[in-house]
Amino acid sequence: MYLQLNAVYYNHNYGGIKMKIGEKFLLGGAISASQCEGAYNLDGKGLSVFDTLLTGRDRVKEAAKRDFTIEQNLHYPSHFGIDFYHTYKTDLMLMKELGFNAFRFSINWCRIFPTGEEEMPNEKGLLFYDNLINECLRLGLEPIVTMLHYEIPMNLVKKYGGFSSRKVVEYFGKYAKAILDRFNDKVKYWITINEINIAKYSPIDAGCYLSNIEDNLNTIYQIAHNQFIASAIAVIYGKSINSSLRFGMMLGYEPVYAETNKPLDVLLAQELEEDIYFYSDIQINGYYSNYNKQYLKHKGITIAVEENDDLTLMKGKVDFLSFSYYSSATVSSDANKMKKAKRGNIVYSLENKNCSKTPWGWTIDEIGLKVSINRLYSRYRIPLMIAECGIGMDDIMESDEINDIYRMEFYEKHLKQVNSCIENGIEVMGFMCWAPIDLVSAASGEMKKRYGFVYVDLDNDGNGTNKRYKKNSFYWMKNNINKMK
Ligand code: BG6
Repeated sequence: MYLQLNAVYYNHNYGGIKMKIGEKFLLGGAISASQCEGAYNLDGKGLSVFDTLLTGRDRVKEAAKRDFTIEQNLHYPSHFGIDFYHTYKTDLMLMKELGFNAFRFSINWCRIFPTGEEEMPNEKGLLFYDNLINECLRLGLEPIVTMLHYEIPMNLVKKYGGFSSRKVVEYFGKYAKAILDRFNDKVKYWITINEINIAKYSPIDAGCYLSNIEDNLNTIYQIAHNQFIASAIAVIYGKSINSSLRFGMMLGYEPVYAETNKPLDVLLAQELEEDIYFYSDIQINGYYSNYNKQYLKHKGITIAVEENDDLTLMKGKVDFLSFSYYSSATVSSDANKMKKAKRGNIVYSLENKNCSKTPWGWTIDEIGLKVSINRLYSRYRIPLMIAECGIGMDDIMESDEINDIYRMEFYEKHLKQVNSCIENGIEVMGFMCWAPIDLVSAASGEMKKRYGFVYVDLDNDGNGTNKRYKKNSFYWMKNNINKMK
């Protein structure tokens, strides 16, 4: 049913991809609320963790020292974002001009339930997303909504430790119900929780601050269980009110390569991937397999479950698997070597000498995308959506021009791999470019790490006009999408 993207023909000068897409293939851009919207305290919005983070790789640790409070005269990048709250109409026009037919964004929980505990949703928050969704539909952009992209109300973080508490599952259920009630007739595709497995590496993304993860594995897997239930509750409710809705779980995915063919290296790579599959196994199969249970047991983890959880997980299985793909990871069983490993988006990785990398050290590996699609489809045999894929670079404007050839090269090579997977019979529903417009980096809060086809004139300190400029990759992408239709 999603197999209409058949052939991508490339020439090799990045001057033109010839790619044929069928109407059902979702090709678009993806953003998140707190990285774009700004308006952090407008129209009744409550605070999220993001609103307390400054710029810098250690920003979460630093914010924890300040007990996640906001101090005067400091630059908090999410407060203004790229002001998408006010510019969404013109920004969406640019997406339309690119030729996209889909747009993925998150609803910020804190706009709907500012502290998470209100009885009734905030009408002004709902109205903003009503308008945004209407505008998407008007422009022919299929809205793909992420219910939770790290935007947990700060009150729930401080009071309950986010998803480490079962109480927050209840509040999430209420939030999910409010947005499903309001938007189920306009939004068909829902991703319940962005990169659900990232909480293992960065638990604050699930609303829980832990200074040491290794000593807190019980909490990490309690968060996972609570998020599985939260997601399942949303799926069950959504389908009960509208059976045509389609729900996806989302992984932050990196195929893990062994550095050598030493059997121990191969085994380690496989085990690290199993860490990731723990999440998709349960949300796709709808139960903890014996393997999943033994996995917890061997790590000495006990999680609290409630009486009907088994049934909830089974009834709340997802329809598709979505994942972000930025790079592959390389590991060695030699602990000394691994001391040099650096975290890309997900897994700690050694440098892969066969691939180039971005200035932020993320491996550029288009074949890794095909490896990912193959591995995920072999395991689950359900439709896949590439919910994020892109390249973060420090784009430079010279004589009013941004000649981001590397971005054209990146997308050409990655889309070619997607197409070849589809030709092999794999159900790939869509591909979302992260991000079609420059936005605040999630990990570091920088503006300098730019992903867009559209340049936003703001720097790391928030200086600039906030004007939009089309990069050369914009014209290139537009030209190519035109030819695909
Ligand atoms: C993904 C997140 O993990 O990676 C996005 O879902 C994030 O929110 C993206 O922006 C890229 O990471 P970064 O740190 O470069 O913004």
